[in-house]
Amino acid sequence: MKRKLTRFDLQSMKEKGERAVWITAYDYVTAQLAEEAGMDMLLVGDSLGMAVYGYPGTIPVTMDQCIYHAEAVRRAAPNTFLIGDMPFGSYQAGIEDACRNAIRFYKEAGVDCVKLEGGTRVAHIIRAISDGGMLVMGHVGLTPQSSSALGGFRAQGRTAEGARAVIEDAKAVYEAGAFSVLVEGVPPEVTRVICREIPIPVYGIGAGDCDGQVMICVDILGLFQAFTPKFVKRYGNVAGEYRKVFASYIDEVRKGAFPGEEHIYRMAEGETEKLAAEWKK
Ligand code: KIV
Repeated sequence: MKRKLTRFDLQSMKEKGERAVWITAYDYVTAQLAEEAGMDMLLVGDSLGMAVYGYPGTIPVTMDQCIYHAEAVRRAAPNTFLIGDMPFGSYQAGIEDACRNAIRFYKEAGVDCVKLEGGTRVAHIIRAISDGGMLVMGHVGLTPQSSSALGGFRAQGRTAEGARAVIEDAKAVYEAGAFSVLVEGVPPEVTRVICREIPIPVYGIGAGDCDGQVMICVDILGLFQAFTPKFVKRYGNVAGEYRKVFASYIDEVRKGAFPGEEHIYRMAEGETEKLAAEWKK
């Protein structure tokens, strides 16, 4: 049976140059298959707002929604390091709120760490959650919850000045006690500096090669149709499979080809005749 990784395993993977691989998961079936495949970590991301609920972004996602999905994922993948993503509004209002919501993730969903967006400006919150004995993963660069402040879903750190801000954010997150940091949507040159500047694992999405990669499950599966960011690689066309399956099912039911002989229950011996006699009356 697979052993769940700890922060120390993740740290030692970084030191040995072994890349950690993880995806988002929001439901039981996906999480079970991901654990079976040997994923190092799973993230119940607030991207569930788009992937599951059809919102235009992550802002409407609530703490309750994240907990429901995290509970299902934890049940499906008991041996995989699970990250709970703190949604917008669950930590911005202050330390007390942030700690209470991080505690909810731990107690109600059994996560192994929480992730929150922002660098210098959330360092005090990362410190408080870490002081509460919980693990925090930082998230810097393109931080979707502040996309309106960033002027949209735009890559960050593309100028020397912008790069300095992202690097300072990553350092602030580390100094505040985060055990790892996710860097999103920045050029690989910037990620490389971050990897050199801080000793904790640096994971990337749209940030080039680093200590590991995360992708959104519905993106790599080729299931999410609304848009595909530049950094996504589709490893399959599950949407195409859904279309084929749905079309075949509709077709077979309409022409009476399903259910077939192998999909029906037969009556016990001699009972068919009794039923026919009784209902002929
Ligand atoms: O919510 C999410 O899916 C994320 C991704 C950027 C990994 O945080």
